[in-house]
Amino acid sequence: MVRVGVIGCGNIGRVHAMSVTGVEGVCLCAVADIKRERAKEFSDCFTGGKAAVYGALKDMLEMEELDVIHICTPHNCHVPMAVMGLKKGISVFMEKPPAITRAQFEELLAAEKESRGRLGICFQNRYNETTKKVSQILKEGTLGRVKGGRAFVTWNRCPAYYTESGWRGGLHTEGGGVLINQSIHTLDLLLHWLGKPVRTEAAMSNHHLKGVIGVEDTVEAYMEFTEGEDPVRASFYATTAYGYDAPVLLELVCEKGVVRLEGNSVFYRTWEQEDFICWKAAGTTVPGKTYWGCGHEACIRDFYKCLADKTAYRNDLPSVENTFYTMMDIYDSARNKER
Ligand SMILES: NC(=O)c1ccc[n+]([C@@H]2O[C@H](COP(=O)([O-])OP(=O)(O)OC[C@H]3O[C@@H](n4cnc5c(N)ncnc54)[C@H](O)[C@@H]3O)[C@@H](O)[C@H]2O)c1
Repeated sequence: MVRVGVIGCGNIGRVHAMSVTGVEGVCLCAVADIKRERAKEFSDCFTGGKAAVYGALKDMLEMEELDVIHICTPHNCHVPMAVMGLKKGISVFMEKPPAITRAQFEELLAAEKESRGRLGICFQNRYNETTKKVSQILKEGTLGRVKGGRAFVTWNRCPAYYTESGWRGGLHTEGGGVLINQSIHTLDLLLHWLGKPVRTEAAMSNHHLKGVIGVEDTVEAYMEFTEGEDPVRASFYATTAYGYDAPVLLELVCEKGVVRLEGNSVFYRTWEQEDFICWKAAGTTVPGKTYWGCGHEACIRDFYKCLADKTAYRNDLPSVENTFYTMMDIYDSARNKER
């Protein structure tokens, strides 16, 4: 039996607990939260009180013989907690972002290399049916080579979302705003199809949460992926100042046509075709909020399968390196006002 602990019993911790308890051969044995009463409620809700309850990761690791920990805490805790687990030889499944500074990312890479534990990052949207469909359409080749892309994340976050959390909206606790938190998944998908930018130019602002948060509520980035006069390029825009959580839109323009992912649908056409063909992902029940996507369960299940089979995990640390460093480049460009 694989013995698992979850640290951070808030919103997303619930989705992890639900997913873990559904995997055969895996047992949720311990839960921890700085607000101990949350961990107690969690244990009662997901394990009928069987999971041991802790107020800190350090105590949980001292008292329990765990094989895997899930890190579902605020951004600034991710790396210190992951390193703590990896140093003990425990495997770690960690929520995004993988780090909030370049130095932290390097530290994590080193800790993973030295550990016999494995590390998986929760970029669950890579597992969405729509993501697979776009990849399949591109692979079929009818649309030709990808020439560029655009992506829009236009969501709504109210002041209470930040003020009541105790960690969101602060540079030292969240590491940034809409880019590192809400839209990192969409940037990850865009880069999945476009590769590594050779040039990035970005701007960010705080439009509707001035005086409430110390990070950006809006970011826009222009990226080039090849050199030359007509480079492969992308436009990226993300905001939490919109009126509602509109479905994420990501489009790739190709030599012979276009493919667009919007929410649960994929639209595609060649330039010769008059209308878009529309493909819809089958309806699934999503634990948690619908805009988190439906990939959590598949992403977590795959992590345990790879641990059991001793095979490479798709969302390992090297696989998120391009997304992480591009995100940091976007922040640097926006802060320093340079390419
Ligand atoms: N993959 C996704 O789509 C997705 C969606 C939502 C959240 N997240 C990520 O999950 C993480 C948590 O987000 P959330 O919305 O669940 O936040 P949350 O505030 O609801 O939950 C965080 C929990 O961690 C606890 N905590 C804080 N510091 C702690 C510490 N030092 N030790 C133990 N517990 C501590 C808090 O008390 C809280 O219960 C963030 O990294 C966020 O970006 C990912």
